[in-house]
Amino acid sequence: MPLFIIYFAHYHEDFRLAELEALSKLENVKITYKSAYSATSPFLLVDIASAQLAAKLVQRGILIRQIIEYWGSQPTYSELFDEIKQQTDRLAEYKHKSFKFIVDGFGKSLSQEQKVEVIESFSFMGFEGPIRMRGAEAEFFVCEEYGESDKPMPLETPQMIWFGRVVGQGSRDLIDRFDVKKRTYLGNTTMDAELSLIMSNQALAREGSLVYDPFVGTGSFLLTCSHFGALSMGSDIDGRQIRGTAGFKRGINGIKANLKQYNLGDRVLDTAVFDICHNPWRAGPLFDAIVTDPPYGVRAGAKRLGRANGTIPELSLKIVDGVENYKRAEYYPPTVPYEMSDVIGDLMQFAAEKLVVGGRLVYWLPTVADEYDPKDLPVHPALSLVANSEQPFGGWSRRLITMEKVREFSADSSLEGVDDPAHKNFRDRYFSKFEKLELCDEQCK
Ligand SMILES: C[S@@+](CC[C@H](N)C(=O)[O-])C[C@H]1O[C@@H](n2cnc3c(N)ncnc32)[C@H](O)[C@@H]1O
Repeated sequence: MPLFIIYFAHYHEDFRLAELEALSKLENVKITYKSAYSATSPFLLVDIASAQLAAKLVQRGILIRQIIEYWGSQPTYSELFDEIKQQTDRLAEYKHKSFKFIVDGFGKSLSQEQKVEVIESFSFMGFEGPIRMRGAEAEFFVCEEYGESDKPMPLETPQMIWFGRVVGQGSRDLIDRFDVKKRTYLGNTTMDAELSLIMSNQALAREGSLVYDPFVGTGSFLLTCSHFGALSMGSDIDGRQIRGTAGFKRGINGIKANLKQYNLGDRVLDTAVFDICHNPWRAGPLFDAIVTDPPYGVRAGAKRLGRANGTIPELSLKIVDGVENYKRAEYYPPTVPYEMSDVIGDLMQFAAEKLVVGGRLVYWLPTVADEYDPKDLPVHPALSLVANSEQPFGGWSRRLITMEKVREFSADSSLEGVDDPAHKNFRDRYFSKFEKLELCDEQCK
């Protein structure tokens, strides 16, 4: 089977393999690993049946720059050239084709002169076709790998030189397209574009799938999931987030303004305002994916409908400004705090029931890093863990959890978990440990 180099972006290293595996499932392209994955290297060798399938595999990749047909990798150019010279069929195939070379360094930047020198050293390949910077029939890739770029002194010579023919590109251009700084409407909870796009891949969002965000806020995931063809919908206890009276920008309202900006109005079905603990969904499986960022309760405590005396608020029939209070746009019902481990537990239970078999739950779990234990993750017999990737922020981190529904939901099966997971009472833990440190940093400046 042909061998390919996956050339990862060197960001979110804990998310890259999970995304690759999601893409393999999404595009139905089988991969066999031929080298061990390393968080410190952007290269991974895999077997894939054909170059066409390799290109298909990475076309939605956010953490994948390119996929390259492997021609060789050696610690020195002379050894690399010997390896390439043996591939006479390949050299003959590209002898008369138009071509270009891309030279890159990982862990060290190469000057323009060094790049030209590298390109010229490949003249032994005997290519006679024209060089074309645009629309070349073959694009060759050379990368000198020096090791992680944060090393104080890069190595003098590369530890490895990689060479091959580029056969496919990822979709990193979408990060710029969905950049939150360019978004018409955003709020202080809007999710970064790169992570929203990765989540859409983890959720296998695709043409015709139905995706739901129960904590929709400003609707980041509706945009990225629907960009990939999914029909999406969301709800939130706070209609002001959806309508845009909070985080209001440039005079256009809420999520609708973003749908217009990205021309996604026909794929984002609707949004609604309700507490997920009292949701109106019919029983049984409905969604292909649930993609969400639950309230952590750091900036504003997570809430659910209720009164301090333990009763659920009834519809308020009080008349304010001539209309029933609950019909006013700015009405916000009485709420009580919603503890983080309850939020996560309820979300899992909801997903176990409301996902179709094979459907995915993709959500963020905040934890105190040094207290986190993998056992903190609640488990449900209908849901199987697919990926658990950490985004560290010093003492605390958030984890992107991907689960897949593996069997029908049964009302007598329930959630299991430890009593005191590191996300329990996250707000209190966060403020007792980190906010003081941050304040101190600010004051010491
Ligand atoms: C972290 S924010 C989600 C941000 C969102 N991903 C975005 O792109 O803006 C969490 C959201 O959950 C909502 N929320 C809190 N408690 C809720 C509940 N019980 N039911 C539904 N939504 C709730 C909050 O109003 C908030 O908008």
